[in-house]
Amino acid sequence: MRKIGHMLGGALLLTVTLAAPVRAQNVIAGTIATDQPGPTISRNIQGQFSEHLGRGIYDGIWVGPDSPIPNTRGIRNDVVAALKAIKMPVVRWPGGCFADIYNWRDGIGPRDKRPVRKNDWWGGMEPNQFGTHEFFDFAEQSGSDTYVAINMATATPGVMREWMDYITSRGDDTLAQERRANGHAEPFKLGYVGIGNEAWGCGGAQSPEYFANEYRKFATFFHKNGSTFHMHNDNTALRVASGPNNDDTHWMEVVLKNAGPMMDAISLHYYTVWHGDWTQRNTATALNFPPAQWNEILFQAWRMDDVLRAHEAVMDQIDPSKRIGLFVDEWGTWYAPEPGTEPGHLYQQNTLRDALVAAETLNIFHAHAARVRMANIAQAVNVLQAMLLTNGAKMAKTPTYYAFAMYMPFQDATFLPVHVTPPMLTADSGHFPAFTVSAAKALDGHIYIAVANADKDRGVRLALDLGREKATGISGQVLTASKLDAHNTPGEKEEISPQPFMGGTIGGSKLMLDIPAKSLVVVRLDGK
Ligand code: AHR
Repeated sequence: MRKIGHMLGGALLLTVTLAAPVRAQNVIAGTIATDQPGPTISRNIQGQFSEHLGRGIYDGIWVGPDSPIPNTRGIRNDVVAALKAIKMPVVRWPGGCFADIYNWRDGIGPRDKRPVRKNDWWGGMEPNQFGTHEFFDFAEQSGSDTYVAINMATATPGVMREWMDYITSRGDDTLAQERRANGHAEPFKLGYVGIGNEAWGCGGAQSPEYFANEYRKFATFFHKNGSTFHMHNDNTALRVASGPNNDDTHWMEVVLKNAGPMMDAISLHYYTVWHGDWTQRNTATALNFPPAQWNEILFQAWRMDDVLRAHEAVMDQIDPSKRIGLFVDEWGTWYAPEPGTEPGHLYQQNTLRDALVAAETLNIFHAHAARVRMANIAQAVNVLQAMLLTNGAKMAKTPTYYAFAMYMPFQDATFLPVHVTPPMLTADSGHFPAFTVSAAKALDGHIYIAVANADKDRGVRLALDLGREKATGISGQVLTASKLDAHNTPGEKEEISPQPFMGGTIGGSKLMLDIPAKSLVVVRLDGK
């Protein structure tokens, strides 16, 4: 038996006791340490990622102003409304691997004059109809902050510098004038800039030592407002260095040691793939999977916790003040593409299982909120673990979308430690907790509790003590279905969506939750 804990300023944030796999108990008692508030759970961990990949941008977001599909300046109204409804806090663009073959100049100016390029990573042609102005318009319509990945591998620091000025300059320089001539008088609101994407792989197959040097060079010419010699620059965006893949702590250590002072955050990519092996990513299917595949996917998602703890240990050594954020700017399930679709488009359906991967992962991020300050699920529309799937004018909200909808109250909420010991489930590759619980005090003053029950066979009754906190009412939602692969299809009646949750009772500080098998429950406590 071993105990895993996360410490912040001496306070234990989450304790999970790992024991030999056992059957779920009927009633499991635990506590919510309402008197030991932890860090703020950044709203940005509910961030999105939209790449020029398959139908992620074209069809998914951009249909053009002349399309019969209802749009505002070429951007789909249904998609914007859906993402706005879940308060999409930040969106990363234009890649991914695509970022390192992207020339920002191809995507500005009159659309009928823009060049068409080959999309060498994901296939097909890149018509450049969706460029800088369209991206910032999309973010503004959706009410989202912006995260732009620059081309580090096939472009230069000079190209980056010009793009940054084009986006942010308030001056009379030619780049600002060009932006104005292209229809945007004011600078765009740029929140974050990724310098490098998967520099260890599609971003140039670099060693960490080489990348750290390159990063320093790019960061020097980033000319961030406030940094040395740049007290009056208009670029206030935070710089995000390309970070490790999975549990590659060597990358983390070398890059932080050599370039840490020049970054505000470092990224991490972790995908949930079959057996944790990317070369087996086409083994598991999104739909019609055998029940035995359920646990393995939930186990691989749970590994995020180990991966974060490994990187945090390195980060805490080199950056003990936690100045540098850890941005998990690509995560989610990666299955075989849907039969009949172009394999390079990474289009997959999305089921109840994905909603539980999302909820389990968000619960993990909450427990690591002191360091994890952004995450971007891959991807927003039509690619991998998407929020939304489109087919012509039709759109479906996926179970993952509904998980994000249910988690909205956790945006910028204050983490409350939960102490509970779940039984363990067994997968091909290891054991993982049957359920995860996260609690927080939200900006609206209410306590919210989320339970992701990954056990496909057994429900659980949780008896949680709130300490000195008392409540008189409880309300909430549950997301579940009888089929393991319940999913929604554009143009068809929804198979799965959140329903009112009736399984909770509260008496003072005693909370009882009857959580169904394979379900996600989020409740709000009311009154004193
Ligand atoms: O999200 C799809 C791809 O996965 C991204 O382009 C790349 O960064 C990662 O390998």
